[in-house]
Amino acid sequence: MSKRTPLIAGNWKMYKTCGESVKSAQLLKSLVDGVTGTDIMIAPTFTSLQPVFNAIKGSRIDLGGQNLHWETEGAFTGEISGDILKSAGCSFVIIGHSERRQYFGETDETVNKKIKAALACGLKPIFCIGESDAERDSNLTFSVLDKQVQAGLKGLVSDDLKDLVLAYEPIWAIGTGKTATSDQAQEVHTFLRASIAKQFDDPLAQSLRILYGGSVKPGNTAELMSMPDIDGALVGGASLDAETFSQIVNY
Ligand code: 13P
Repeated sequence: MSKRTPLIAGNWKMYKTCGESVKSAQLLKSLVDGVTGTDIMIAPTFTSLQPVFNAIKGSRIDLGGQNLHWETEGAFTGEISGDILKSAGCSFVIIGHSERRQYFGETDETVNKKIKAALACGLKPIFCIGESDAERDSNLTFSVLDKQVQAGLKGLVSDDLKDLVLAYEPIWAIGTGKTATSDQAQEVHTFLRASIAKQFDDPLAQSLRILYGGSVKPGNTAELMSMPDIDGALVGGASLDAETFSQIVNY
């Protein structure tokens, strides 16, 4: 069992209207009312951020954005800045999700700029990395992840990263129902902690929260969370239903 405070984070992706988001957030608030010792975050779509923030006020649920632009402001139609996310109530932001990398051209370089922008305005980045099916089959998992971590955190020092959360999301496990086994995930998380210790230092590696994401559901959370280097979960599909998500929170 990890010594770090667990974080259970829900990525709502492009689901739910404002009304649906608020309803779900209100229900979740009541369902996690008695929870202690676990941090909780939900990341609805941009237009639902402010109303969801109002709905979760007074609870232990934090709000997160699903993306941000690295510039602070300007003529960037369709983009959103860290300060704008903060003004809507966000304290976290998901960065470098594999869907952003796959469909919206995000690269290790843009991910690096976004992490720096988030840290500069006081948002806690949830930095996503993960290998594809083909990369795992070719035994490239560790080299792919090492490169993503090094490039994503380039130019940063240990002191900058106290609020960063790393999320290991194997692409082959996202939305597929094919969860990594707890042993597979633990093996990668151990590797990632060692990689952070090498790139930065051991105290940072020991305090850094590393979440697992990919087909997390109520039935597999306890097993994943029993592993010493798994500090939480980044949940997609199973976070959309407040009851189901609260069961994951209460693993
Ligand atoms: P699923 O939980 O639906 O597999 O999605 C995981 C994910 O992408 C969270 O960011």
